[in-house]
Amino acid sequence: MTDKVKLAGVIGQPIAHSRSPHLHGHWLKRYGISGHYIPMEVAQSDLKSVLETLPKMGFQGVNVTLPHKEAVLELADSVTDRAALIGAANTLTFTADGRIQADNTDGVGFLANIQDYVPEWSAKSGPCVVFGAGGASRAIIAALSQAGAPLIRVTNRTRARSDALKDHFGAKIEVVDWVQAGNVLDDASLLVNTTSLGMQGKSALRVPLDGLRPETVVTDIVYTPLETELLRTAKAAGCRTVDGLGMLLHQAAPGFERWFGTAPEVDMDLRKAVLAS
Ligand code: ATR
Repeated sequence: MTDKVKLAGVIGQPIAHSRSPHLHGHWLKRYGISGHYIPMEVAQSDLKSVLETLPKMGFQGVNVTLPHKEAVLELADSVTDRAALIGAANTLTFTADGRIQADNTDGVGFLANIQDYVPEWSAKSGPCVVFGAGGASRAIIAALSQAGAPLIRVTNRTRARSDALKDHFGAKIEVVDWVQAGNVLDDASLLVNTTSLGMQGKSALRVPLDGLRPETVVTDIVYTPLETELLRTAKAAGCRTVDGLGMLLHQAAPGFERWFGTAPEVDMDLRKAVLAS
């Protein structure tokens, strides 16, 4: 008897550039799973009806990308604590009785990526400095906070957005002026860029890193290119650096396990496959 073909996918608009089909496709092949992972372009106006239809078509769940990450919370039957804290979901699971469970795995993906490269680092080790105050920043701040970071310094070009994060996350957050950020690095255990600066075609995130100690771990969520100017400069200052690709790979793993029943490995083969896609 053959297994029933399992279906999952990713919904967003636009969707053509999503790397998720490549990485789930790689895992499906590697584990010999009879399943498909399908990219689906979904307009905002169709979101509700698409989420009603997919479970009826036999889908186990979907990843969610821009612009639907916030809106799906309203349409889900249950929301994990971390997705509620972040205010957005990237992973939906359809249960056998037709319910929609919403989760957000971006933050755990971020921490797992650092764990791969600097296993001795812990969020509890000291203050973390976060550049940026968008959706990715929210997920990372939630994860750092839940993992026990004593203090999270947030700096953003638009001050009002970092102030809003302080209102949302509370006492552990300290807002730092964008132009002052270079002055709060000397006791940092982690520096992370969550802005799109450093991405191919954009200008670099240029922070004066003179105050940085070699003990500080420096990481970027940008992965095109893998080595951003920030990471290059930090490496030259003697810091350990972690590129952003692993976050993308790790955030996908919990969904794959839930939908296809196998906990997938994040390793060099997967990195190579996704980079080549
Ligand atoms: P995401 O959900 O991927 O985090 P976003 O919500 O659009 O995307 O956030 C993008 C982040 O990159 C923001 O922190 C943004 O700063 P603003 O809030 O001031 O817009 C930051 N960013 C983008 N371009 C930037 C630039 N040229 N200089 C400084 N920050 C920039």
